[in-house]
Amino acid sequence: MYDGKQLKSITLNTIRELKQKGEKIACLTAYDATFAHLLDQAGTEIILVGDSLGMVVQGHKTTVPVKIEDMIYHSKIVSSSLNYSFLISDMPFMSFYNPDIAMENAKKLMQDGGAQMIKLEGNQSQINIIEKLAMSDIPICAHIGLRPQSVNKMGGYKVQGKEESDALKLIKEAKKIEASGADILLLECVSSSTAKIVSSEIEIPIIGIGAGPDVDGQILVLYDILGITPGKLPKFSKNFMTGQNTIQEAVMEYINAVKTKSYPAPEHTFK
Ligand code: KIV
Repeated sequence: MYDGKQLKSITLNTIRELKQKGEKIACLTAYDATFAHLLDQAGTEIILVGDSLGMVVQGHKTTVPVKIEDMIYHSKIVSSSLNYSFLISDMPFMSFYNPDIAMENAKKLMQDGGAQMIKLEGNQSQINIIEKLAMSDIPICAHIGLRPQSVNKMGGYKVQGKEESDALKLIKEAKKIEASGADILLLECVSSSTAKIVSSEIEIPIIGIGAGPDVDGQILVLYDILGITPGKLPKFSKNFMTGQNTIQEAVMEYINAVKTKSYPAPEHTFK
């Protein structure tokens, strides 16, 4: 394990440089100070305070009940532990339903929560929101593909971009989102062949979760890689505690697997 304190902090430019060099970007979620410190010291490039906290911390069945106050609280305690990692915080359900509300809540996440970038689950109808935030120099990660906040509308957690028409829609959406000023794209549960096309068609870094190997970085939910999430792991995830003695070793193993491209393996991807 190396000491994150001795390294230069990660910025959006570093992330772009990693993409240009073809070095995979290792990302994980964190929700509290102790884990944030551990991930930072292990050299995790991006830490996401995800609204997955609604499920793994608060015990809800979906991310829908998470409030902006929850995101500010967890972002603040995570940001206070970081010296190296770049911090992205999620905009929760209904916190960006129009440009003015989005601006107000993004401002809170950055000013009060210490986020360096906000993430929002978007589709084409959020283009005007992304444009407005981008015009105010708010760094944006746009999350497309499977959007857990829309689970009730999407009718469950389904792999996206499998059928040709879905794939074309997703590719078009990605291009529009890039053109509207997003800085990073996050693809969740997307057919790996579609993710590969998106990757070849847009310039901004792409972080995948269940989107196959042909994206610029990988993100997983911390508790999944530590094997402490109750129930069955999603197909795309992996328990990195197996064969390790400590949490630090498991996190290092995950980062190493992302960097050496041994994760995700074919069994973690969707065709
Ligand atoms: O909320 C979250 O943790 C996320 C990741 C699963 C990407 O959005």
